[in-house]
Amino acid sequence: MVAITETVLRDGHQSLIATRMRTRHMLPAAERLDAVGYRSLEVWGGATFDVCLRFLHEDPWERLRALKRRIRKTPLQMLLRGQNLVGYRHYPDDLVERFVRRAAHEGVDIFRVFDALNDPRNMETALRAVRSAGGRAQGTICYTQSPVHPLESFVRLGRTLAQMGAEELCLKDMGGFMPPSDAGSLVRALVHEVGLPVVVHTHSSSGMSAMACMAAADAGATAVDAALSPFAGGASQPPTESLVGAFRGGPHDPRLDVGQLAELAEYFQGVLAHYRPMLDLRSLQTDPGVLLHQVPGGMLSNLLSQLKEQDQLARLPEVLAEIPRVRADLGYPPLVTPTSQIVGIQAVVNVLVGTRYQQVTREVSDYVRGLYGTAPGPLDPALRAKVLAGTPAITGRPADLLAPEYERMLAEVRMIVPSASEEEALSYAVFPSVYAAYRRAADQGLTADVLDAAAAGVLAALRRPGAPGRMPPGTVPGASPWAREGRNRLMNGGRWLHETRGRAGR
Ligand code: CO
Repeated sequence: MVAITETVLRDGHQSLIATRMRTRHMLPAAERLDAVGYRSLEVWGGATFDVCLRFLHEDPWERLRALKRRIRKTPLQMLLRGQNLVGYRHYPDDLVERFVRRAAHEGVDIFRVFDALNDPRNMETALRAVRSAGGRAQGTICYTQSPVHPLESFVRLGRTLAQMGAEELCLKDMGGFMPPSDAGSLVRALVHEVGLPVVVHTHSSSGMSAMACMAAADAGATAVDAALSPFAGGASQPPTESLVGAFRGGPHDPRLDVGQLAELAEYFQGVLAHYRPMLDLRSLQTDPGVLLHQVPGGMLSNLLSQLKEQDQLARLPEVLAEIPRVRADLGYPPLVTPTSQIVGIQAVVNVLVGTRYQQVTREVSDYVRGLYGTAPGPLDPALRAKVLAGTPAITGRPADLLAPEYERMLAEVRMIVPSASEEEALSYAVFPSVYAAYRRAADQGLTADVLDAAAAGVLAALRRPGAPGRMPPGTVPGASPWAREGRNRLMNGGRWLHETRGRAGR
């Protein structure tokens, strides 16, 4: 049997609607999701923490607690960027330890820990903290393709993660270009040579993910990640229902009830309708280009907006050609947050300046100096010499250079929130200015509910006949006749769906 981890509450909406799903759209489905029999529900971490505070005016810890109160059987899972936690820089060990302990205390059962460079030293503290907090430690191998990534290198990493306390492994195809043959041979090698359960995470970007999942299951994978169909496909995971259907009756049958899944899919169809203005149809399309350039969807949209800002959109093909060269110069890092941005921005700079590395970004400079960890392969000697300029690179574990920060962060946040708890101090420590802005807004009563009500009021005013600046029908975000009609139809499906109508559909 192969089990399923459901990602609709994290990676599914992160991949398709920029992580914007609100807690109040999750809660009505929580008990139903719990009843399905998933191996786990991925609900936290990744970009959700940042987006909650920055855009949704929600407390991410409160979301976790609210889900935990309703989801009592199914383990909750989070994605943790190793030493980067849920942020974009290395945090000192004391913050990593406290953050993990707090997250476990508030409800996270399984911690998927990864590092963009596959440097195990960047996962070590987090894995140890997960174990000592009583969580399940899932060590992650970021899949990529390069001359310095033979199959044996991934198996070696798997062994190291096992020695560091990982209780299971995740093979993570964040770019969505792992072919079924690699999925099969990697899972087989990891299962036989490391001996831990292997979970496979894919994205549907190039259209191969469901095939990769089948091959992984045949090779002995314990579980695969999938998203309920409204939030599946394209930049997201393969659809849960399709995988369950494909496995049904065979040796890997996950034994989940398709009827239950269909009902949940109807519910999330209604949720998706609410966020439809956020959905870029390109993110739902199959993109075979990823087979050539390995550029993940999120990175591609960042590149597009950077080039658009500079009025240089026409140079995208040059940038796409430059990305693999920069990646090679940097020793072939897998492209995932933050290396995707480091490589992408330097490629843009190289193309726009015209001379390669005439300008070196701060991030590339830090990378070359070893501040992100050890690159998978050797760095380009000329770039290395230029950046280091005779100073030695760091070869130890980057976090060893960082002094403890928690007490300082606690003191700082207490200047804004005198009664700040550990939880609030951790939110502040990870994103100081974002958290400060969030608190200021919250203290003035600008909560998610207030902002939603205000937005609804504005939309209603715009819809009023003869209202000043009234938009033509169909242009009001979220109010297209299609969305209204589809939502009404879908939300009438069953009693449960009927009950949640209004709460979830609006
Ligand atoms: Co993912």
